[in-house]
Amino acid sequence: MTATRVYVPRETAAVSVGADDVALAIATQAKQDGTRIELIRNGSWGASWLEPLVEVEVGEQRIAYANVAAGDVAGLFAAGFLEGGEHERRAGPVSEITWLIEQDRWTLFRCGLVDPLSVESFRQRGGFAGLEAALAAGPDAVIDAVTKSGLRGRGGAGFPAGIKWQTVAKTQADCKYIACNADEGDSGTFSDRLLMEGDPMCLIEGMAIAGFATGASKGYIYLRSEYPLTHRILMRAIDAVRHAGWLGDDIQGSGFSFDIDVHLGAGSYVCGEETAMLESLEGKRGIVRAKPPLPAHEGLFGKPTVVNNVITLASVPNIVRLGAARYESMGVDRSTGTLPFQLAGNIRRGGVVEKAFGLSLRELIEDWGGGTASGRPVRAVQVGGPLGAYLSESQLDTPLDYESFAAIGAMLGHGGIVVFDDTADMAQQARFAMEFCAIESCGKCTPCRIGSTRGMEAIDRMIAGIDREENYDLLVDLCDTMEHASLCAMGGMTPYPVRSILEHFAEDFASTGGSR
Ligand SMILES: Cc1cc2nc3c(=O)[nH]c(=O)nc-3n(C[C@H](O)[C@H](O)[C@H](O)COP(=O)(O)O)c2cc1C
Ligand code: SF4
Repeated sequence: MTATRVYVPRETAAVSVGADDVALAIATQAKQDGTRIELIRNGSWGASWLEPLVEVEVGEQRIAYANVAAGDVAGLFAAGFLEGGEHERRAGPVSEITWLIEQDRWTLFRCGLVDPLSVESFRQRGGFAGLEAALAAGPDAVIDAVTKSGLRGRGGAGFPAGIKWQTVAKTQADCKYIACNADEGDSGTFSDRLLMEGDPMCLIEGMAIAGFATGASKGYIYLRSEYPLTHRILMRAIDAVRHAGWLGDDIQGSGFSFDIDVHLGAGSYVCGEETAMLESLEGKRGIVRAKPPLPAHEGLFGKPTVVNNVITLASVPNIVRLGAARYESMGVDRSTGTLPFQLAGNIRRGGVVEKAFGLSLRELIEDWGGGTASGRPVRAVQVGGPLGAYLSESQLDTPLDYESFAAIGAMLGHGGIVVFDDTADMAQQARFAMEFCAIESCGKCTPCRIGSTRGMEAIDRMIAGIDREENYDLLVDLCDTMEHASLCAMGGMTPYPVRSILEHFAEDFASTGGSR
């Protein structure tokens, strides 16, 4: 009798709500019953609100059971879940869960589906076909495809990936690097982690393609230390890929050599800024470098370096494999392709939703997110991490694309969406923006280092009702100085959340704030 395949995610969000206990309970119960199962620890599909999401392979289908607890396992076996039996936890075939199938899963298409540590499982779903196609087409054709796809950096700034790659490719040097930014420091963001835990080989493949296209033979993944499980999965995946001959010397006899090391950060937000990240990778304190020189000319150890976000690099294998035109046909205007949006904060259905650019924030929050978890009205939504603006209810119809967001003084950043209901104290959120900057500032330039502390003090006085108008003017002035005189976007964009609150939620300064 063949063993029944059971999938239990080994992904940080799923594990945090008991997936490891569920896996253990399933293995123990199967042993007790003398039933043969093959337990696969897959990644998550991104539907965090359904975790732990257990699946059983029945014929051609995978039947899902949602929000399973270890205590449910005996009952599930009794209900015949190994045959897809009825149970209150049964959510039906995964291929029929609309929340999953109505996404445009380009980058995350293997997450949840495959065994993240199996090269064979990866290969069965198109893994390394992008690298094979790249090796056959040559570096220029790869850069051409990435450029034509319109792919822009998903780490925050939205810079075109093709131009960056072209610059590194053209810069002469004895050695070049691919530095993957996996610091994922923005509030409410976890798509990098989801990808690295669910389909780490996709990132490895994307980095190898970047190396081949630009002439780099060494890659580094700068991973935040707060992701210990991701670290273990990445290390095991890299080992497996190297063992299979897709990393290392002379990959698959192609003459191209490329290898990857993982470097752990030490918990600093500003180390996600590319030049501070490079300093940290070099073993120094993470302080921002002045630009120029651009990292593409003089980056890691002074060598030409591609710095790209995890999602940027992981989007590439499919672009090369399926063609730039397919990617370019999704999205709107200069925002081509898809973005894995991350729904967090006060939201009923939290998780990652990969959609083509252009749907509205309201659709994302209401249709996909199901509104607030508290059931109260949405009051504010912070998009793009701690440096992103807070949008009011009246702005929820804004289409999710780079240009539409820039037009309202906001940014999409890494696609993190943090929802607040009508009990949020927005004056405190404004204070928090300045406080965060004061704590995380690398200290290199005065507007950010000193301005953030002065800004916090001005907000404190406004909240306390001391000389409100005078402090308002001071705060506005400080915001202008920080925006225009800071060396990097840390100080330069902290004014975004503060200004948006002054504009849309000024009433919270008039009262003492707090629950309304
Ligand atoms: C304060 C600060 C923090 C940042 N944190 C991250 C981060 O955690 N991950 C990331 O990919 N990019 C981050 N960025 C953006 C990077 O500087 C850089 O633009 C990005 O890694 C380039 O890759 P991309 O073109 O693929 O987006 C941050 C920028 C700033 C100013
Ligand atoms: S803006 Fe802040 S984080 Fe950026 S260089 Fe200046 S002090 Fe450092």
